[in-house]
This record gives sequence, structure tokens and C-alpha cells, in this order.
Amino acid sequence: MARNIRTIICGFGKVGRNFARLMESKRQMLLQRYNLNLELVGVGELQGSVASPRGIDILNLVDYFETHGTIGYFPGAGKPEWAGIDLVHESDADVLVETTPTNIQTGEPALSHIRLALSREMNVVSANKGPFIRSYRFLRSLANDHGVALKLSTAAAAALPTLDVAQTCLAGTEIRAIEGVLNGTSNFILSRMRTENDSFDEALAEAQRLGIAETDPTLDIEGYDTANKLALIANVSMDADLLPENVDRKGITEMDADQVRQAASEGKIMRLVGRAEIKANGKIHARVAPEALSPDHPLANIDGSEKGITYTTDTMDRVTVMGGKSDPMGAAAALLKDLINIYAAP
Ligand code: HSE
Repeated sequence: MARNIRTIICGFGKVGRNFARLMESKRQMLLQRYNLNLELVGVGELQGSVASPRGIDILNLVDYFETHGTIGYFPGAGKPEWAGIDLVHESDADVLVETTPTNIQTGEPALSHIRLALSREMNVVSANKGPFIRSYRFLRSLANDHGVALKLSTAAAAALPTLDVAQTCLAGTEIRAIEGVLNGTSNFILSRMRTENDSFDEALAEAQRLGIAETDPTLDIEGYDTANKLALIANVSMDADLLPENVDRKGITEMDADQVRQAASEGKIMRLVGRAEIKANGKIHARVAPEALSPDHPLANIDGSEKGITYTTDTMDRVTVMGGKSDPMGAAAALLKDLINIYAAP
């Protein structure tokens, strides 16, 4: 008998809808390989939600949203007055998948969704960084107190496994430094300027067309997204207390094609790199800046929209992971990975 996992999603943007599509397209695989049946019992959106304890037809709901731009009047299950928080409050789901837009300053509305879900003993899988930038320790202990899981790989570079590696593969080590190419958009732009001779603006326009860039690309190209991810990864993997505003930050907006080509003519490759390092006094120093990396640096060969991270540890030396799709489907797949790992850990 398959294990039924009653699932709600808050936020039905590109990532939320791709996650819902995966619930459907991977249904057989999830049953056969993990003995899991993911049942969608609600979706929360600011302008109306849907909920049905009997389950919701996923593909019809996705079509409905893409036609109407809202789900509050979805036949049979629409709840026009409900926002996401009402859904979390009323639902008896097993797991919340949180994909609402990120607010780094307040963490809302995701922070409230996650706090309530954990208190109501739901597991939580989040694509949203906001709640964890300022409240990671609080939310982690809330999850522990309620005996539920809190998974946030998608918030920390999505399809690139950063936290899984730190928490599982490097368990028992001291992570002393993190270096990361953590923003797909910036890496895509720098790669296109080097390999296709694109101008900065042409490369950015292409990143937007492909859905890699944030709605407001300033977050990507000014290094904010890298600083946010770096803070999150440092806080989880180094038990640090780093805020993005304490990361020295310089983006790639001042880079032009000549600088990228100049680095190439010297045999180097420009990357936007985030670094966090524990200093001798125990304090953490973190910065984000464009760097000309020599080709033998492990992060030099991460081309296009891929990302990568190198951890330097006390007992396992240096470990690098790279790759992973930087688009809404890559993020949705990372959410699914986290969810599977809650219920069917190897
Ligand atoms: N826009 C981000 C990137 C993805 O380019 O990597 C979301 O963090």
C-alpha cells in the first residue's frame, strides 16, 4: 500500500506550477521507486486559494491558473476569500511546499506560512529564502520541537546541492570556508560575454527570456542573490549568524565585454564569486565580487547558467559540487528532492 502524502503548495508562480506538474508527471516513478503517492489537497495564493480534502486535479488547476491568472474560483474547490495563511490554518496536510515570492527583509508571507505549518506539525519544504535569512535558528528549533522536518535546499541554490552536501556528505567536519558561484544569471551573462561576444545588456535579456533571472534582475547582477544564498548556506553549514547586509558586495554591472575578454586573454575566467571564511578570531568574513579565476580553480569551469560551490573542511579537505539547472523546473525538482528525502530517506 503506497504512503499517501497530503500536500499543499503556497505560491503558484512558475516554481509552484512546475512542482505541481512534477507531482503528476512523476507519479508512477514516485509510487514504484519510493512507494509515495503525492496528493495535492490545496494551493494558496494571495488572491484566492483552492482546497479539497478529496484531492485536486493538478493539470486542470494549472490550466485554470494559466488561463485566468487566479485560482479562487476554480470549480468545486475554489476559496476566493482565502490567502495562503488561511489554507495552512484550515488544512490537515502532511507537508507544505512554500514557493511564494521572496521578501528578504521581512520573510513574509512565507515566514508566517512556515511558522504556522510547523506549529501544526506539517513538514515544510521551501524554495523561499526570506524566512531563513533572519529566522533560521528559530524555525529550526520550532521544527525540532514539533518533531517535523524543515528542508530548504531550493532556497540555497536549488538544483545545485549545497545544503545536502554540507549537512549529509560533510557531516562531522568543520566547514572553514565556502566559495560559490551561486547566481545562474550572473554566470550566464559572464559566460555569454566571453563565448558569444554578447554585450552585458544582450546577455541579460537572454537570461530574462530563459526565466533564469529574477523578476527584478538587480538582485542577480548586483550580487544580492549571491549574498543572500551565501548567508543562508553559511548559517546552516557553519552555524554562523551572517546577514546579507554584512556581506561586502559588488555585482557585475560595471563589467564590460572588454574586461571579460582581457581576463580571457590572460588565461583567466571571470566569475561572480561569493566567499565566506572563518577567521582565526572565530569571526566570519564574507564577500561577493567578480573575480578572474585561473583555469585550475574548481569554480572556473562552471559555464552558462550552472552554479557551483567549494567547501573547505578540516578533515576532508576541499569538496566541490557543480551543475544543476537554474530555472523554475530545476527549482521545482529540488523541492521534489527534499520532499522525497523527508519520506523516503535512503
Ligand atoms: N535568479 C537566480 C539565479 C535564481 O540566477 O540563480 C533564484 O535564486
